[in-house]
Amino acid sequence: MGKRKMFSGHLGFILATAGSAVGLGNLWRFPTLATKYGGGSFVLLYIIFVATIGFSLVLTEAAIGRKFHCNVVDAYRKINRKFTFLGYIAVLVAFLILSYYCVIGGWILKFITVYFSGNELLAAGDGFFDGFISKATWPVLFQALFVLFNMFVVMLGVQNGVERLNKVLMPALIILSIIVSIFALSMDGALEGLKYYLVPDFSKLSFRAVLAALGQMFFSLSLGMGVTITYGSYVRKDIDLEKATKKIELFDTGIALLAGFMVIPAIFAVFSSSSESLENALQAGSTLVFITLPKVFIKMPFSGWIGGTFFLLIFFAALTSSIALMETVISTWKEKLHLKRKSCTILVGLIAFLAGIPASLGYGIWDSVSIFGMNILDFTDFCTNQLLMPLGAVMTCILVSYIWGTWHLTDEIKKSSAFHREKWYLILIKYITPVAVVITLISSILNTFGMIQL
Ligand code: PFF
Repeated sequence: MGKRKMFSGHLGFILATAGSAVGLGNLWRFPTLATKYGGGSFVLLYIIFVATIGFSLVLTEAAIGRKFHCNVVDAYRKINRKFTFLGYIAVLVAFLILSYYCVIGGWILKFITVYFSGNELLAAGDGFFDGFISKATWPVLFQALFVLFNMFVVMLGVQNGVERLNKVLMPALIILSIIVSIFALSMDGALEGLKYYLVPDFSKLSFRAVLAALGQMFFSLSLGMGVTITYGSYVRKDIDLEKATKKIELFDTGIALLAGFMVIPAIFAVFSSSSESLENALQAGSTLVFITLPKVFIKMPFSGWIGGTFFLLIFFAALTSSIALMETVISTWKEKLHLKRKSCTILVGLIAFLAGIPASLGYGIWDSVSIFGMNILDFTDFCTNQLLMPLGAVMTCILVSYIWGTWHLTDEIKKSSAFHREKWYLILIKYITPVAVVITLISSILNTFGMIQL
């Protein structure tokens, strides 16, 4: 086997990991959750979770990766043979998310073509999005195109593909977000929305809000699926992991906050005439991005360009996330099956594409398929985000804290620099993080099966 490739330095690792973190979760989930659960108070809660539980888990994954310099499955095997299955779960989760992320990536590509071909009126029309996703072939073709983009970048390798792409797209994403935010904030009535987004309303801060903030933190920081272990395995020993973790979190949270500036004020400006339409407009998920926002853009000057730029931005965010997922799967399959990067990329790309097709058809010819009341994509999303990711994370905390020994990781972190928040890290990883994650896991399972009402 050839020498393992590495990121060129500090920036390469930070931008690639931030690229995996910044994605659809930031742009379409965070702003709507914040408005739903009490504005500024939710934002504050979220930031506390990121700075505590998130900090401990990102740092743990990065340190595991750098310690072993190998794929996720082997990393867990080296920690403890009996826990190799955690590596397999991580790769499975990454693969499943990749499969449906590419379906959504395909929808984004479709909207880019619509906007840049001057058809913004079409995109804003009633039924356009539903009409598109319910077709059998077009969404699948766009999904294939999105998979091909991923394959192209991953095939180029860690430095030439993954790192180089993130170094260009991440700064571009910030610039585009700022441009769209300025346009959104300049609309009449936008400031009302800003107030709603940021002024704390502690009466909405329920247990459900706490769970929503924790779940969002997991998804947004790409935790529990081996992505940061994989990227950590490409990091040189002289890089300060503690500092890098803080920067990654700052980046991810910054973009999530900025997404609120882009989306909420504009929605207020357009929909505030009736509280019912406002509530509908603030729904999280695909409705927000593909149905509500096109109706918002059409009211802006240069609507085609603004809309096109926004979808380009979402495309960048989604691509850097799905590349992280694909890289995680490939780095494992490549080493396990002794394949070359190129042939492994083709294999993973093809299988992920095929695995994603049912999720796409679940909006059209297979829309009668319902699993626990969810369509195929939502069910896959539920299994990965609500079950497997927290499960992987809590088992990792237990493994590291009580079986393997945290000193392995603190030693690894201290190889490059002083570990300023070591004591704090130990309290988090041993007690606070596993307890918080177990509570989330159990409540979301009970809630889904109707045993409690959140
Ligand atoms: N963090 C991404 C988002 O916020 O959209 C989603 C994601 C990407 C999760 C990559 C996991 C992952 F490995």
